[in-house]
Amino acid sequence: MRTVYVNGEYVPENDAKISVFDRGFLMADAIYEVAAVLDGKLADFPAHIKRLHRSAGELGMRVDVSDDKLLTIHRELVRLNEVDQGMVYLQMTRGAADRDFAFDTDKMTPSLVLFTQSKELLDTPVATKGLKVITLEDKRWGRCDIKTTQLLYPSLAKMEAKKAGADDAWLVRDGEVTEGSSNNAYIVTKEGAIVTRPLSNSILPGITRATLMAYAEETGTKIEERTFTVEEARNAAEAFISSASVFVGPVVAIDGVQLSDGKPGPVATKLRELYIAETRKRLV
Ligand code: PDD
Repeated sequence: MRTVYVNGEYVPENDAKISVFDRGFLMADAIYEVAAVLDGKLADFPAHIKRLHRSAGELGMRVDVSDDKLLTIHRELVRLNEVDQGMVYLQMTRGAADRDFAFDTDKMTPSLVLFTQSKELLDTPVATKGLKVITLEDKRWGRCDIKTTQLLYPSLAKMEAKKAGADDAWLVRDGEVTEGSSNNAYIVTKEGAIVTRPLSNSILPGITRATLMAYAEETGTKIEERTFTVEEARNAAEAFISSASVFVGPVVAIDGVQLSDGKPGPVATKLRELYIAETRKRLV
């Protein structure tokens, strides 16, 4: 049984308690972060905490705990649960109050929950076989740049993908790909340039995206931050996704259309190796 962190205490997961009046439960009035664990240490940790503060700020939510304390809790959970590879999830809500659409943040105490998930991140079929995606209309709200727990549509999209025999869904607004159900989306042009949608309210500013783009730039890879259509993606040389829980995942088919030879492409494979090697040097 895992040990989880709930509002100041480390408890067995079965004993963890949150109020039924918590606005996270009633209103999805909550934000979260997911940091990868490699070699028992945290990847890209400062950037995840920075994004947590941004999410909270955009929603007028208080972060009552210091960054140092957050690092301590992350590390303690990794230690207690003996996580070598996997993720630490941080869930923060505005707190509990009588059910009402209106709220007074100052009168509430934010809830803080963290838990771990052990998962093989390096030696996975994603790297060797790649992912098949389908495209679906992006029906999410207009602030996808905030990492909220409103994950119902992404969950339904993922299930649509599974039903269609694929692994994931790429979401599409006005004919252009926004991002994956829980990752950022990229294509590689026949000339070898990486194309990914510019940051805006339509996508989450992925931490993996930011680090990956910085590493790619250092190696002289051309990056085009622009929108791309489903049509362009289906005709691309390669495609891939990035997220804290997958790192870089090559995409081998879009809507049943195989990309190139249907195997993980060289650019995506190299970026995956680059990301892992560089991240491993900077674990905390
Ligand atoms: N998902 N876009 C969306 C919609 C996401 O949910 C995620 C992350 C990303 C990639 O962000 P990052 O590189 O910071 O992980 C992009 C996490 C892993 C999740 O919900 O489990």
